[in-house]
Amino acid sequence: MKPYVAVLPGDGIGPEVMTQTLRVAQKVAPDLTFKTGLIGGAAFKETGQHFPKQTATLIDGAEAVLFGSVGGPVDQQQEPQWQNCEANSILALRKHLQLNINLRPVHFYPALTHISPLKNERYAACNDFVILRELAGDIYFGDKSTVIENEQKVARDVAEYNESQVKSIADWAFQLASKRQNQLISVDKANVLQSSQLWRQVMEQTAHNYPQVKLTHQLVDNCAMQLILKPEQFDVVVAGNLFGDIISDAASALPGSLGLMPSASFNPQGFGLYEPAGGSAPELTGKNTANPMAQLLSLALMLEHSFQREKAASQIRLAINKALGEGYRTADIACHESQKTTTSGFIDLILHNLT
Ligand code: IPM
Ligand code: MG
Repeated sequence: MKPYVAVLPGDGIGPEVMTQTLRVAQKVAPDLTFKTGLIGGAAFKETGQHFPKQTATLIDGAEAVLFGSVGGPVDQQQEPQWQNCEANSILALRKHLQLNINLRPVHFYPALTHISPLKNERYAACNDFVILRELAGDIYFGDKSTVIENEQKVARDVAEYNESQVKSIADWAFQLASKRQNQLISVDKANVLQSSQLWRQVMEQTAHNYPQVKLTHQLVDNCAMQLILKPEQFDVVVAGNLFGDIISDAASALPGSLGLMPSASFNPQGFGLYEPAGGSAPELTGKNTANPMAQLLSLALMLEHSFQREKAASQIRLAINKALGEGYRTADIACHESQKTTTSGFIDLILHNLT
């Protein structure tokens, strides 16, 4: 059977942004085959499930997964199609594929200084950095219950890590740090949580195998402050599932928008799923106005990590930089009317820049 990429466009802006991204994929990697499947509310509508069996079969035969976004409008969350849609789709996919490593790069675009909350001189001092988030453990996947105790509801979510879970991401983090600046910041809440104390111990033990890397620890509350006060200090940051979720959203705001951030998730065998870090933006659906950058950059990550095609990945990034440098922007990051381009218009520019 010919190898293929499983494409899961999902809901909201997912399908239109994916259609546009695949135009670029066909140009930079014409030999790859893409097979589309259903996920999220779109899957629920057809099958009554957010992550149906046929989608599991599709991804099981794939070389990689390119994911869009899932979820419905805020005022329709009570409808079965949208109830728990994100958790039922995204968390189920992560569990099914045993994705335990999540890579979220934070990239500063010189052309986009104006959309950042940072002052210009601080923005200029920032270096690109990477957040590595553990994705398969912690409070996300520990035991959960809601029970009645003493005549009132009590809800529990257990935050749990075992040594091998932490070791797996620790090795990834040290290896990545070794390829970059030999600096690793590990984020935890070891002054309060036992799961964080174990996390810190395993990070320290792993550090012995990578003497060239300088490991420092930041408590998560302090890290939140440091991200805003001194973002230039970060190069590789590693965090557990919940803290990684929170600090990656915070970090995405530094270059200006969560809508610019791609992400890659891997399992221990190196299988990858690639997706924008942002959501399905239901209010923008069908308007051809959404920013396709995060999806496009997720494609670049896929070409680089699952297909070892660094050249194609860097061509995409250069084409994006060129379009931005020339002043073209989708509405979310434009500051005047004259710069505005549509989703498909931005992709036309990318295709043009690739030639
Ligand atoms: C993310 C998202 C998900 C998470 C949600 C939608 C389940 O916020 O990928 O960061 O919490 O992991
Ligand atoms: Mg999140």
